[in-house]
Amino acid sequence: MLTHDDNETLCRVGPGTPMGSYMRQFWIPALRIQRLERDGAPERVRLLGENFVAFRDTGGRVGFLAEACPHRGVSLSLARNEAGGLRCLYHGWKFDVDGNALDIPTERGDMRAKFAERVPVRRYPIREAGGLIWVYLGSGAAPEFPQFNWLDLPDTQINAACAVVNFNWLSGLESQLDTAHVGVLHRDLAPDANSNVDKMIQDSAPRFEFEPTPYGYREAAIRNMPDGAIYVRIREFVLPWFSFIPTGGRDVTQAVTISVPIDDEYSAQWDVVYNLGRALQPGEVFEDELRRPDNYLSDIGTIANRFGQDRAAMKAGNWTGFDGVRREDFAVNLSQGAIPDRTHEFLGSADASIVRARRVLLDSVRRHARGEQFNASGETIGWNEIRAIGAVLAPSADWRSLPR
Ligand code: FES
Ligand SMILES: [Fe+2]
Repeated sequence: MLTHDDNETLCRVGPGTPMGSYMRQFWIPALRIQRLERDGAPERVRLLGENFVAFRDTGGRVGFLAEACPHRGVSLSLARNEAGGLRCLYHGWKFDVDGNALDIPTERGDMRAKFAERVPVRRYPIREAGGLIWVYLGSGAAPEFPQFNWLDLPDTQINAACAVVNFNWLSGLESQLDTAHVGVLHRDLAPDANSNVDKMIQDSAPRFEFEPTPYGYREAAIRNMPDGAIYVRIREFVLPWFSFIPTGGRDVTQAVTISVPIDDEYSAQWDVVYNLGRALQPGEVFEDELRRPDNYLSDIGTIANRFGQDRAAMKAGNWTGFDGVRREDFAVNLSQGAIPDRTHEFLGSADASIVRARRVLLDSVRRHARGEQFNASGETIGWNEIRAIGAVLAPSADWRSLPR
């Protein structure tokens, strides 16, 4: 369980909050690259309780600005996107991707240029990588970009999809760090050997070992197999919101999830599926994610209709009555409430990774509040070596010696 205050610290992300300030020192996945076309419609983006607008200009560059026009606050998502910038509909003020006011038609001729120089346009640096547009919302110079090994893959080898859900970002992260639920909630996946759920069902009470890293920690969830071997799932938790999901050996298709706060009560649950060596195959990405990549479970419903749970299917042998893994995840997470009350939890040994993540996050937020930066140790981070692994090992083997 958590105290009320610690839960508030972890969940509240608006401007000026401890977690909000901490998160603003990271590059944030904001939207899919493909959503922005040259001179196309600007997209509204809400992150950490603030509203922004993203657009691609005539030359192909991406701009990321505060949504409210600096003149009198009209949404720049309504703006015209033409000839190198966004022109607000209301009075025609025009802004480029670098945050310059290019034209202020409501000022008198010879005064325009001088006036334009003083318009306070809030723009933010962006990067395009891994199918995503990332933004830095913090003050000062942007930090080192996390150079994960999946960021430069061709489009055929990576798929990024997002679900917008009515629960706090921490619920989404905790769900991804929760290995014990997989063999229960997702047990109907078991016939699919790639998912390894068959192995997770064999031992419903994994034990955990951890290794601290400068960016978070590595977690080994160890399960006993009936033949005496152990099944080890090595996850990478990367602050503040990445969980690299263990699959199989080096050549398999992998996944990383990212739980990004939209505000205190909504989050963007990103699912990035990638293969470092070949194109993704049919069936490796969930149908919903291919069909509606910007909000792939927009039809999930509410607790009032039990998220469409099929009780007849349950009677007939289905475990959850939900169609698909993500629907199962989000139904249980939504049912915890937008911001779960963690003062009433009763945690067990299988919650070890969740407990650890909370502690690391709280510690990081407090250190940030004291002026320490992320990775204050200054250790070089081998971003491109961060990957999750699943393997069956001899009981005496040490998972730490597995090649990454
Ligand atoms: S409100 Fe945008 S130009 Fe006036
Ligand atoms: Fe799950």
